Amino acid sequence: MRQLIVGNWKMFGLGPAVEEVSRLGDLLSGDGASGAEIVICPPATLIARVADVAASYGVAVGGQDCHAAPSGPHTGDISAEMLADAGAGYVIVGHSERRRDHGETDAVICAKVKAAWRAGLHPIICCGETAMERQAGQTSAVLQSQLAGSVPAQAERPFSIAYEPFWAVGTGLTPTALQIEEAHLMIAQRLPATTRILYGGSVNGANAREIRRIAGVGGVLVGGASLKATDFHAIIRAG
Ligand code: PGA
Repeated sequence: MRQLIVGNWKMFGLGPAVEEVSRLGDLLSGDGASGAEIVICPPATLIARVADVAASYGVAVGGQDCHAAPSGPHTGDISAEMLADAGAGYVIVGHSERRRDHGETDAVICAKVKAAWRAGLHPIICCGETAMERQAGQTSAVLQSQLAGSVPAQAERPFSIAYEPFWAVGTGLTPTALQIEEAHLMIAQRLPATTRILYGGSVNGANAREIRRIAGVGGVLVGGASLKATDFHAIIRAG
């Protein structure tokens, strides 16, 4: 299975950031096929502009969140259909920053996954334990309950999972290779064999090769190191 490499720009990027996408495209064209499926998830305001540029380089575009309803009186929200209309093919759901900042529950995330399918998007469902939960030996139980609550019982369409321990996101800390392998195995046991399981949390050009080669890792979800074309390119090349 091809690895899925996703760049999550979070709430970073004004108009000029679109140039990073053409820079990345030029770097990718320069060194031939990467063998990976590449997705950039810019802020919603840039999806259409990034999609215009990215398409010619074979790079796909995704949203960072969506509302569960197709439309409605939900000021400030964006539906999966709107993301698709703007040029997205993917959407991240249940990111730890959404769970933390917006109180998203597994049930809300599950509804968003169904919305993504309804709109023809490929959902990337995030899960992961906090540092306290890991220290308390609860990692397996937490992952099990997040998956049970956020992955629809009837998996109607393809989806991917991103294992992102809260404590590794944006901190510069990464789990050991063994911890990543064990978590991916726990997740894989509960999902169809064809599901890609990405690792996310402080992935960079220096650690990407080791992480991408861990058994059970089907790609990476990259935050900070996806903002600059050269950094993201190094991760894509580290296959
Ligand atoms: P990070 O973020 O790579 O900056 O740790 C990862 C993510 O939030 O998906």
